[in-house]
Parts: sequence; structure tokens; C-alpha cells
Amino acid sequence: MKIYVLTAFPEIIKGCLDISMYKKAQERAGVEYKIWDLRDFANNKHRQIDDTPYGGGTGMVLKPEPFFLSFDKIKEENAGEKIRVIYPSPQGKAFNHDMAVEFSKERVLVFFCGHYKGVDERVIEALVTDEVSIGDYVLTGGELPALVIIDALIRHIPGVLHSYDSAKTDSFSDNLLEGPVYTKPAEYRGLKVPEVLLSGNHALVKEWRQKQRLERTKERRKDLYEKALQNNLSGGCHG
Ligand code: ADE
Repeated sequence: MKIYVLTAFPEIIKGCLDISMYKKAQERAGVEYKIWDLRDFANNKHRQIDDTPYGGGTGMVLKPEPFFLSFDKIKEENAGEKIRVIYPSPQGKAFNHDMAVEFSKERVLVFFCGHYKGVDERVIEALVTDEVSIGDYVLTGGELPALVIIDALIRHIPGVLHSYDSAKTDSFSDNLLEGPVYTKPAEYRGLKVPEVLLSGNHALVKEWRQKQRLERTKERRKDLYEKALQNNLSGGCHG
């Protein structure tokens, strides 16, 4: 998979992608990151990529040219490939687990990072395939949302996680939240690890874990709990 990120602040992205799971995605699953500076695609000698909004108002709007020009180059580099273009924005569809799984199956992903007041609407109309929001709050730009989406999707690329089971039991893969986890010591400052986890009885541990997940989901996320029950009733097909 190739992941392009078009941004006015490449440092934000570059600083993150060379560590931890993002790096492992490169080493283990051949994920290739291409972080491009929008200013390199400015069509003026001052490398200006934003301008005032037509019709007046405060704030600056990112100009269309850098996006169209960089996208021309991406198309050239990926002739014949399907290209998915994600624009993180508070106006987008709410990001979730299913979208992460769907994006993880693509071969070419492009993130357009907005800033200031946003991006000229023609970019969204002509180039963007998915406008995605990571929550009902406004961030300064699309860089952190792009990283959030990349983080969530690369875990689903085969080979990135050592144990894919670990991704499968993550919260949301079956609409249930994760239960509590513990490590050594068995007692710390009088706080004890639940007995069952020390029992060595795998069947009991499994049953206890599932119960914890159900209880936690019921208590914290009634909406997901109902969904999980529905899925179970319909034969356990997750969605
Ligand atoms: N850009 C600014 N705020 C955002 C949000 N909540 N989600 C996605 N992109 C954004």
C-alpha cells in the first residue's frame, strides 16, 4: 500500500511515521509513506497556497492548484490503480472501525490535509472520494486526523501486527469494548488481580473476559451493546 499525505506541515506527519507501529507497517507489510509539501505544488513564485475567500469573510482558504497538481503526479505514479482520496474534515462522515478495515484493503490512499478555513470546494467535488470526521470538535488542521486514520487502518493490514488476533479482539471488531487487563505483580498496594486470571483455567478465563466485555459495553456504550446483541441474534456476522 502507498499512503500519500499532502500537507502544508510535513514535519507533523514525518515525525510520527518513523516510529512504532507506523514503522513496522513499512518494514513488515511494505507500506510506503509519501509525505508531500503542498507548497512544492504552488503555482506562484511566493509558494503561496492559500487565499482569501470569495464573497468575503475571515480566514484563508487553501487554493485548488496545489491539490490538483499533486494529484496529477499521484495519478502518473499509479497509472491504472484505483486511488482513494480522503479529506479529513469536521463536515465528513464519522470515522469508525468498518471504515478503517475498508481503507486497509486499498492499494493507494491519499490524504489531503486542510488548514485555516478549509479547502476550495472544487477540490472536494472533483478529487475527494471520502470526507471523514474523527469527532465532533474542530482541530487546527487535517494532519492529526490523517494520523489517527492511518493508525487505525494499518493495524488491519496483514503482517503489521504480530498477532492479528490482537486486532480481532480489539474493541469494535465485534461491537464490544475491550475488558480490563492486568500484569505482574499479582498484588500491588493492596490492589489484587482477579483470582480467575491466576487460575490457569483457560476456559474460565475466556468466559470471564467475555463477560467483562459485555458488562463494560452495556454500562458505557448502550448503543454498541444493542448492536452486539443484534449481531449475535443474526448469527454473529459483524458489521
Ligand atoms: N479537521 C479539523 N477538525 C477535524 C475533525 N474533527 N475531524 C477531521 N478533520 C478535521
